[in-house]
Amino acid sequence: MPLAYVNGTITPIERATVNVEDRCLQFADGLYEVIRAYGGRLFRLGPHLDRMRQGMAALDLPEPRTPAGLEALLEELRERSGEPDGQLYVQLTRGTAPRSHVPPPDMEPTLIVTYRAAAPVPEERYREGARAITHADVRWQWCHLKTTALVANVALRTLAHRAGAYECLLHRDGLVTEATSSNVFAVIDGVLRTSPRSERILSGVTRAAVLEVAERLGLPRREEAFSLEEVSRAEELFVTGTMTEVMPVVVLDGRPVGDGRPGPITRRLQEAYRDLVRSETAG
Ligand SMILES: Cc1ncc(COP(=O)(O)O)c(C=O)c1O
Repeated sequence: MPLAYVNGTITPIERATVNVEDRCLQFADGLYEVIRAYGGRLFRLGPHLDRMRQGMAALDLPEPRTPAGLEALLEELRERSGEPDGQLYVQLTRGTAPRSHVPPPDMEPTLIVTYRAAAPVPEERYREGARAITHADVRWQWCHLKTTALVANVALRTLAHRAGAYECLLHRDGLVTEATSSNVFAVIDGVLRTSPRSERILSGVTRAAVLEVAERLGLPRREEAFSLEEVSRAEELFVTGTMTEVMPVVVLDGRPVGDGRPGPITRRLQEAYRDLVRSETAG
């Protein structure tokens, strides 16, 4: 059953409520994480929470009060929902106060967690690949923080959806940064490339896992951004994310990528990523 936790209370998701003066509603003053469970195990919970804690330090958000700790709470919600393959959403906001840009001192943060069955992308999409479009990266400059301020991501992803595409690849100063809810990899002249960690991208947990398996497979790789010109002649292209996993992009802005089918390096990484998930979430 889809469940929600809000500041100490667990209820069915549709009964959960928050205060209208929560700063996340008024200012998007909060952080979030999406963590996936496979067969009853949360995949790479540690790196997700590390990233959240780095965001809390950057935005001066206090650790939420949970009697047994955040990790234990997340595991409890997953367990109580009874759903082994799920999507856990964690949101930490600065809390509730009368609207004013400068928050009052000593605010109590709001912790919201939801857990529901994962809605996996159809297998056929992974086999055949997806379409993507490109757009200027019009987001703010602190993209390394996973804040709830996602209105630009929402607008651009909707643009992609309306164009019949799965994702929208973003570019700044002529370089591809990432996509609206995933990181971007390309194979260019036989080398696997992705943007380096910086304030221009959200450093994905899946991105890190894919780089790990690429290293294990001995694939030539570089964390170096690529230009729009380079991506237009890439042999292979794919996007990565917690819910997206490794998704081949076979058509970009209406033109085929490589031969218009998922390439061999992408397929090896798709498989190796799934093996990694299986090995880390096995009984
Ligand atoms: C902008 C952006 N980049 C990349 C990612 C991928 O991150 P992860 O692999 O940790 O899910 C996300 C995930 O939501 C995202 O929103």
